[in-house]
Amino acid sequence: MKVIHNKYNPAKFKELPTPFYYYDLEVLKATLDIIKEESDKFGYKIHYAVKANSNPKILEIISSYGFGADCVSWNEIARAVETRFKPEEIVFAGVGKSDREIEAALKSDIYCFNCESIPEIEVIDSIATRLKKNARIALRINPYIEAFTHKYITTGIEESKFGINTWELNEVIRCLERLNKIKLIGIHFHIGSQVTRMSVFKSLCTRINEIQNWFNSHHIDLDIINVGGGLGIDYENPDKTADFREYFSIFNELIDLRHGQELHFEPGRSVTGQCGTLISKVLYIKNSSNTRFAIIDAGMTDLIRPALYQAFHKIENLTSDGDLYRYDVVGPVCESSDTFGKYIELPETKRGDIIAIRSAGAYGEVMASRYNLRDLPSSVFSDEI
Ligand code: LLP
Repeated sequence: MKVIHNKYNPAKFKELPTPFYYYDLEVLKATLDIIKEESDKFGYKIHYAVKANSNPKILEIISSYGFGADCVSWNEIARAVETRFKPEEIVFAGVGKSDREIEAALKSDIYCFNCESIPEIEVIDSIATRLKKNARIALRINPYIEAFTHKYITTGIEESKFGINTWELNEVIRCLERLNKIKLIGIHFHIGSQVTRMSVFKSLCTRINEIQNWFNSHHIDLDIINVGGGLGIDYENPDKTADFREYFSIFNELIDLRHGQELHFEPGRSVTGQCGTLISKVLYIKNSSNTRFAIIDAGMTDLIRPALYQAFHKIENLTSDGDLYRYDVVGPVCESSDTFGKYIELPETKRGDIIAIRSAGAYGEVMASRYNLRDLPSSVFSDEI
């Protein structure tokens, strides 16, 4: 892990209309440099999870590193192609791919569909037959591993809607024998997001080895193993990158790769999380009997993570160095869950101060909504101001 400081220009921020996402491109590039260096050591292939941040300027920088893209909708695939990801390096995941999306993806000759059910594989085969195309697929398998993260972002346990159950695999193989246009190239896993216990990835490796052995015992060789994303970031220390060295080393040590087999990763949050900050202005300070509220002009429509997952984001006042007080930092939306932090220590805060909500580069801008008919937040890049 490395410390790379986000640099802010609060005087400039004061002149700009708020709220907006501010992206420090030096932090993004330094993070990408580390990922490239650490993954190249072992020849691992990275497909960036576009869902974490699909801002075109961010995507163009990521694609320039030669990474592929992990997409979950046709619109993400189209955006990835527009921002110079190569179709042959795009994977398409998701439990509910529509016929229209499958058709468009086949016509674009993407690399691989990560498939989550037998009916989905059958639909891909029938559309591929009509289009006279072949489809490469990987099976997303549920490894039944507890990721020890928020329940809404846990995806690889028995009750998850994601992945194919191991007890269905015999049937999947029989189904693949019947289908002419499907080529099985690998297996895929994703156990959840914001995973901070490295032991979880170790358990995943052990499980993958067992599953790969099962395939080999059924005379099926796999070209790729895709271990998904999930590596967490440190929301308490927004200038720290994730520990990619330790992360890739775990897989290098524990996964039994066959000769010529590729290992693929799909990081999202750990790539863009720490380079983004939601910048907002204080509208009003309001005192109630026990609480000082700092009411800011950003709300849950701009960054929904605290409201949806009770997520912690570090909050800083960039324009005050006064005495410290405790504030509830809240947005303007008509919901009590529109709260960014409770009882947060900040230097004395006044109307017009600039508030930075840190570690917002992943699942921030992409999850913004227009609830209350609010405007979507804009984005500002460090090389523009
Ligand atoms: N691959 C697959 C199949 C995924 O479902 C995901 C994320 C990723 C890769 C990337 O995972 P990451 O490296 O970013 O953890 N909105 C939530 C996070 C949802 C994650 C969904 N899947 C949040 O704000 O915490």
